[in-house]
Amino acid sequence: MAKINPNYQKLPGSYLFSEIARRTAAYTNEHPDAKLIKMGIGDVTQPLVPEVIRAMHEAVEEMSHKETFHGYGPEQGYAFLREAIVRRDFEARGVDIAADEIFVSDGAKSDCGNIGDIFSVDNVVAVCDPVYPVYVDTNAMAGRAGDYDAEKQGWTRIHYMPTTAENGFSPAIPEGKVDLIYLCSPNNPTGTVLSYEQLKAWVDYANANDAVILFDAAYERFIVEDDVPHSIYEVEGARTCAIEFRSFSKTAGFTGARCGYTVVPKDLIRDGASLNAMWNRRQTTKFNGASYIIQKGAAAIYTEQGEKEINATLNYYRANARVIAESLTKCGLTVYGAVNSPYIWVKTPDGMGSWEFFTLLLEQGNVITTPGAGFGPSGEGYIRITAFGDADATKEAMRRIEALLTCEK
Ligand code: MLT
Repeated sequence: MAKINPNYQKLPGSYLFSEIARRTAAYTNEHPDAKLIKMGIGDVTQPLVPEVIRAMHEAVEEMSHKETFHGYGPEQGYAFLREAIVRRDFEARGVDIAADEIFVSDGAKSDCGNIGDIFSVDNVVAVCDPVYPVYVDTNAMAGRAGDYDAEKQGWTRIHYMPTTAENGFSPAIPEGKVDLIYLCSPNNPTGTVLSYEQLKAWVDYANANDAVILFDAAYERFIVEDDVPHSIYEVEGARTCAIEFRSFSKTAGFTGARCGYTVVPKDLIRDGASLNAMWNRRQTTKFNGASYIIQKGAAAIYTEQGEKEINATLNYYRANARVIAESLTKCGLTVYGAVNSPYIWVKTPDGMGSWEFFTLLLEQGNVITTPGAGFGPSGEGYIRITAFGDADATKEAMRRIEALLTCEK
């Protein structure tokens, strides 16, 4: 008899964004005329920029001729993209990362989940609370999370680090020993960032304890403040303790095109093994590389014109973030994030529960948000709103919420 992976049986309910989609669909079934505005999942709405489209068209053309056709590419990504990444994302910021430490992929979500393949099931995993659910769920699938405790809304073997307004959204360094530490800055879901000093404390902890930091920098291009690190490798000592994930999804509208990359420095050794060599072994075995056409499109964002164009799109989303933060603040709500991030983390009014406020906004305002409790127990009492919407729809959503909360105009 084929035996299934029993860890899947332990997973609670469905993946957060599937649950939101389910509840939204149930509402629209009952109210087919409702004009819903989506501010839930962080999915982009603006098209790929012209320079990316031009590069993709060229690549399609190349694929149509025998002389320029591309079959399997390098599993690690084409040199043209890896080298462009090194120049713009690392060298230009004075960071020492080589092209063979970059692994191009079909996105940060897959890599954040797949990275677990190279780590033992015995590791103790630390995550921020609230947290991007992919880190927790993928560790649970691998058997690294223990059992789900429905009352505590958490896993028995996961070390949850409250990351809340009370501690300035900076998780405390564990007193005991943890082995794998997920950090995300700019943070999903809170929209807040970690400073150089805060990251340095984590790097020192990881090096002292032979831990590995899994640093998710998917929202890096949203950083506008000067004193915020863009990469963990800007912090001294990170090459010996950190893996970094980057994504083109939010940077350049690739949520549908799918492309990102992971950095595994060659100095990162655990149990005498090179994690760079292990990840290379994993990728060459299980992955045949991101598509040539998509990588050509991704490389176009590293050209002068491409960068100018994606910056215009990023500014469009930043303007939405300001509209949301200003409108909700005017309504007397407490908001976090929105400055170096497309996410606005909003305290619910009058101590309402996250799902309760989510339902109120869905049913009374026809606005879809994400309940903070879905990101972990410390997310209770918050909702997350994304700035990735259409600008007019964002303004309309804010008008509806202002009317609903009857705030001063
Ligand atoms: C989110 O809404 O948290 C993200 O869009 C999900 C993702 O990037 O996978």
